[in-house]
Amino acid sequence: MKLKEEWIEKAKRNAALEAVKQVKDSFVIGLGSGSTAAYAIKEIGNRIEREEIHILTVPTSYQAFTLAVKHGIPITTLEEHSTLNLTIDGADQIDGELNLIKGMGGALAREKIVASASRRLLIVADGRKQVEFLGKNNHPVPIEVLPFAAPIVTRRLKKMGGKPVLRESNKKVGPVITDNGNVIMDVNFGLIHKPAELELELTGLPGVVEAGLFIEMADIVYIGKNSVVEKIERKNVGTNSLESF
Ligand code: 5RP
Repeated sequence: MKLKEEWIEKAKRNAALEAVKQVKDSFVIGLGSGSTAAYAIKEIGNRIEREEIHILTVPTSYQAFTLAVKHGIPITTLEEHSTLNLTIDGADQIDGELNLIKGMGGALAREKIVASASRRLLIVADGRKQVEFLGKNNHPVPIEVLPFAAPIVTRRLKKMGGKPVLRESNKKVGPVITDNGNVIMDVNFGLIHKPAELELELTGLPGVVEAGLFIEMADIVYIGKNSVVEKIERKNVGTNSLESF
């Protein structure tokens, strides 16, 4: 592994380890997806073994599910536990208000559902993910779309000023199919100055299952840096914009 890659992996792992300290005995927690969340899942497994704590988890993807099984972490469902103590997940971009772009791993719909059922959403990431405005460097917003609706959603996204690209699989021919049987569109909107308005507009399009804009949902962000982890708390923490439903 090259030095820079090693540094990034260390930063991700440190952020994840710091967040997992918030996990307490008898908690029901959401397990996020992606490479940084994977470090958190492994550490939760370590803590269950070391401290004999009792934890139940709701995985946000097939990846999180298989990692939980691998690390001996008990799994439950939203049927059994519709309110979770907390969720630990990664992010692709994080702005100064702790709004997020998520979904480069294609799990954004379940991630948002599980986060919305959680009293607190803890985000773990390395320093590269922090931006002043979402959409920096033409980072796209991933959107999960019903295949049947893909043509009209594409047309409407273009009308909104977006540049949608159907996400293609690199291990099979054709599009990436999500854990829910849908497709992903990565939509470049340039710099996003009003992410809350954009999220509402996107999720209002018929055929859009969910958009990878997470507005006022993250309560604490753990950013892995050189050898330290920066902890940033959202103002009005604990007021997950969806949890009251
Ligand atoms: C998956 C996600 C991931 O949390 C996000 O892509 C970050 O992944 P990584 O930690 O591998 O950079 O939203 O849908």
